[in-house]
Amino acid sequence: MKTMSRHLQRAFGAHSDSALKAGADIQMVRRSLFLVFLKFLRVMIPYWDKLLICILVTCSLSVVRLLTPWLDKYFVDDALPNGDWELAWILIIAHVAIGLIWWYAATINTIFTRYIDMRVLADLRARFYEHLIRLSMTFLQRRPTGEHMYRSNADLNAVMFMITDILPQFIESVFDFLLVLGFLTFLDWRVTVVLLIYMIPYTMLAHWIASVERRFDKEARAKSQRVEATLQQGVAGQLTVKTYARRQFEVHKYTGRLIDAWRSQMKKSYTGILRGQIIGGNGLLPWLKGFFISAYFMREVILGRLTYGSLLPIFNYMNRFSNPIQRIIELFQALRVAMIPAERILQTLDVAPVVADRPGARTMPPLQGRVAFEDIHFSYEHNVPVLRGLNFEIQPGQKVAFVGYSGAGKSTILNLMLRLYDPDSGTVRIDGIDIREVRMSSLQQQVGLVFQDTYVFTGTVRDNLRFADPRAKEDALWNALRLADLEDFVRNLPNGLDSDLQEGAGMSGGDKQRLGIARALVRNPRLLLLDEPTSSLDSETEARVLETLKKATRGRTTCLISHRMPTVIDSDVIYVMDAGRIVESGRHDALMARRSYYYQLYSLYFTGKGEMAA
Ligand SMILES: Nc1ncnc2c1ncn2[C@@H]1O[C@H](COP(=O)(O)OP(=O)(O)O)[C@@H](O)[C@H]1O
Ligand SMILES: [Mg+2]
Repeated sequence: MKTMSRHLQRAFGAHSDSALKAGADIQMVRRSLFLVFLKFLRVMIPYWDKLLICILVTCSLSVVRLLTPWLDKYFVDDALPNGDWELAWILIIAHVAIGLIWWYAATINTIFTRYIDMRVLADLRARFYEHLIRLSMTFLQRRPTGEHMYRSNADLNAVMFMITDILPQFIESVFDFLLVLGFLTFLDWRVTVVLLIYMIPYTMLAHWIASVERRFDKEARAKSQRVEATLQQGVAGQLTVKTYARRQFEVHKYTGRLIDAWRSQMKKSYTGILRGQIIGGNGLLPWLKGFFISAYFMREVILGRLTYGSLLPIFNYMNRFSNPIQRIIELFQALRVAMIPAERILQTLDVAPVVADRPGARTMPPLQGRVAFEDIHFSYEHNVPVLRGLNFEIQPGQKVAFVGYSGAGKSTILNLMLRLYDPDSGTVRIDGIDIREVRMSSLQQQVGLVFQDTYVFTGTVRDNLRFADPRAKEDALWNALRLADLEDFVRNLPNGLDSDLQEGAGMSGGDKQRLGIARALVRNPRLLLLDEPTSSLDSETEARVLETLKKATRGRTTCLISHRMPTVIDSDVIYVMDAGRIVESGRHDALMARRSYYYQLYSLYFTGKGEMAA
């Protein structure tokens, strides 16, 4: 009982935050086939009516198909020997009618299934993406992007194939099997007994071959995924690949993995062929079985215990009998194979976002720009403290800077201000409000952000700016561009705001950062967060972008994170961070005068020895 409930909990319950921190999100949670399947069926609940119709139609088609051989029996036994034209015509018309009905229903059924298939797939992919994008960055970053893409594409496709293709076929086959078995028992129960006994070794053999096949399939899938990830990384990291003269190496690696994947696929295919030849529809075993049973019934006819015409449905059913069993086994295996991607998707779907809105969370009122950290302790992973007791208060309109070595926890401060994570203890207050009490989006919408690299989306200047606020007016866009010193740049583009930016191809680093600044300003935010906004620029461009920033930050609360000392000199307060603590704070002059930590950072920076990595 206890294990059962634990089982259910593991199958249906999302991991808790602490489990996530302990790295449980990366582990494979093994579930039984049945539970994975049940969980996926829940996804199908909104479509139950359509699905039910599909299954009902499929089963009716099965019955209809089984009726036709009986028409042949009457034709041979009654119409033919008696020269009964009337009966012959009735039988022929019945044949045609059944054929037409069958054709019509089958067409409708296929169209319907495809519709459900695509609708549900689109829904699922949307849900998957929505979920993925809410997950913690820790989860997203720990896996290669290619893997998330693979899950959203190939894995979801495989699962949908299971639900809309394999599942109805499975039900149909079981239904078919029971019907045929019923008919055969009705004709001669001894045949049924023999068939049922024959099924035991047959099923075992089929099961064994399929399990080998499944193992190879899993291997092949894992390897194709590696191939995809290699390609993705090679393209994404092309600059590094090329400049390190690793092109050849990367190509070799890719080819190696490709061949490796191909080998696994071949192993899987060969096992599949073997399966077909031995237990498949035209395989050895079903053929032998068909032969012996047909011989037995022919003997019955010769002995006069069965009519001649009865052989027609019998032969027909013999074919059909091996079909459903073989199909049931095949489909069952297909279901198990489909469970692998299903399980992978569930793994992602099961990871609970680290932060979520509290029920009844209110809307963040318009920001004033006061930010307070009250004794904040935080760790991304269990027992690896990143922030250890942070206290500070930023006044509205103040410009503060956080400096310190890479890894000191500077960016983490911004993550907490935006509530991408919740602190382990302590409170983040904005305008005096504990930010856990407000809806995340209502807070995030009011904050302007600039990062070290500005991601330029495919699309026009307008699209890129409106990313910050889809309803921004034309004036607001131009205002933002003016403040970011990009007005002339955009006016000189062939189509102005409607010029295509092509993911920023051809834009200089400085222009991209200005675009980032303009994007942040479109919201006219009271709170502006800048994380190493000039670190990817050369010092000359940096100086110019700093001028831009000076203008842009006027009248806004600004948090600047930087390890480039010249960028922080003008700040109202500089917080010096080391290993998750604030070790000093004050204005530049005062800090320099103390000749302590900040002084050392500053001197190191300018003697060039201490160019700290971002
Ligand atoms: N998403 C994350 N998941 C796990 N650890 C992280 C994550 N982001 C940062 N860290 C770790 O937290 C520490 C502080 O990181 P960060 O705040 O980015 O430092 P900084 O911005 O000062 O360079 C580093 O040791 C870093 O490895
Ligand atoms: Mg950082």
